[in-house]
Amino acid sequence: MTKLRASITGVGGYVPDYILNNEELSKMVDTSDEWIMTRVGIRERRILKAPGLGSSELGSKAVLQLLEKTGTHPEDVDLLVCASVTPDHQFPATSAIICDKVGLKNAYGFDLNAACSGFLFALNTASKFIETGSCKKVIVVGADKMSSIVDYTDRTTCPLFGDGAGAVLLEPNMGDEGIIDSILHTDGSGRANLYMKAGGSAFPSSHETIDNREHYIYQEGQTVFKAAVSRMADVSAEMMERHNLTADDLAWLVPHQANLRIIDATAKRMGLDPSKVMINIQHYGNTTAATLPLCLCEWETRLKKGDNLILATFGAGFTWGSMLVKWAYDGDKISK
Ligand code: UT7
Repeated sequence: MTKLRASITGVGGYVPDYILNNEELSKMVDTSDEWIMTRVGIRERRILKAPGLGSSELGSKAVLQLLEKTGTHPEDVDLLVCASVTPDHQFPATSAIICDKVGLKNAYGFDLNAACSGFLFALNTASKFIETGSCKKVIVVGADKMSSIVDYTDRTTCPLFGDGAGAVLLEPNMGDEGIIDSILHTDGSGRANLYMKAGGSAFPSSHETIDNREHYIYQEGQTVFKAAVSRMADVSAEMMERHNLTADDLAWLVPHQANLRIIDATAKRMGLDPSKVMINIQHYGNTTAATLPLCLCEWETRLKKGDNLILATFGAGFTWGSMLVKWAYDGDKISK
C-alpha cells in the first residue's frame, strides 16, 4: 500500500530589522568580535525592539509570507503548531495569537516546547496529522524573541542569541517526497545546564527572583557544548546508517545554528563537504526554534525536488534529534 507522506510544500521566514553587531555588543559587555567569531561564529543578530510585541509578531510575519508564497487561503489551513521558548504569555498559547493575527479562522492550534529542538519536534508531531489523513494543510512555525530572556550584562550568553521566525506548510504526498524518518531524544537530566530558573510554576516571579536575575537564560556552556557535539553528530550519522545513505546521497545538512564548531563537527562526522551545509549563524545567531526554517527559507532557491536533507538539532532539556526529508519541489515558490 502506498504511504501517505507529509511533505513540505512551502517555506516562509522573518527576522526583525534591527541589527545588533559584535561591535555594539562589545560596548555593552567585555567581549570582542574576535572572541565571538572564533568561539561561536556569530557576527550579528536581529532584535525585535518595538515594545509590546512578542514571538507571535515574528511568527505571524513568517506565516503571512508562507501563505502568500504558496497561494494558500488562510481559511483552508486545518492546524498550526507553534514551537517557542519565548511565548507572548504563559497563556493563551502563541499559536492562538498567530492564528488570530493571520486569519486562520478554521484552524486549531497548540504550542510545543522542546527548546532548540522545538521546530524539529513540532514538524515530526505535525506530520502525523497529515499521515493519518486527519489534516490536509498544517503549518509548523518556530518563533523566538530570545532578546526577551537574554541578560545583556552576561557576556557568556548575550552574544549567542537573536530573534526570528520561520514557518513551513505540510501537505499530503502519495509519492516519494516528504518526511521520511525521524529520530528524536529527550534526556531531562541535562536540564540544569541550560534553563531559565524563574517565571514558571516552580519559582513564580517575585522581587527576589528579579533581584537574582533568574528570568534570564542560564547556561553551563562547556557541558552543553560537549553534549551537543556528540549527540547531534551521533543522531545524524545514525540516520544515514539507518537508510544506507552515504555523503554523496545527501544534498544538504540543515543543522541547528548554535555554534559553528558544533555544526562543523556534525558535518565532519557525517563525512559531508562543507559546501553541503546550510550555515547562516553569522547573520542571525541562535534563534532557537527558528534556526531550521530560516535556513530552509534562505536556501529554498537552491533546493530541488528529490533532494535528500538531514535536519539536526540539539537544545535545552536536553533534547536532540535528526530528520530525513526528501524535498518536494524545485526552487522558490514565489518565482513560479
Ligand atoms: O542551542 C542550545 C544549545 N546551546 C549550545 O549548543 C551552546 C553550547 N556552548 C557553546 O557554544 C560554547 O560553550 C560557548 C560559546 C557558550 C562558550 O565557548 P567556550 O569555548 O566553551 O568558552 P568557555 O565557556 O570555556 O570560556 C572560555 C573563556 C573563559 O575565560 P577564562 O576562564 O578562560 O579566562 C570565559 O570567561 O572565554 C571567556 N568568555 C568570553 N570572553 C570574551 C566567555 N564568554 C566570553 C565572551 N567574550 N563573550
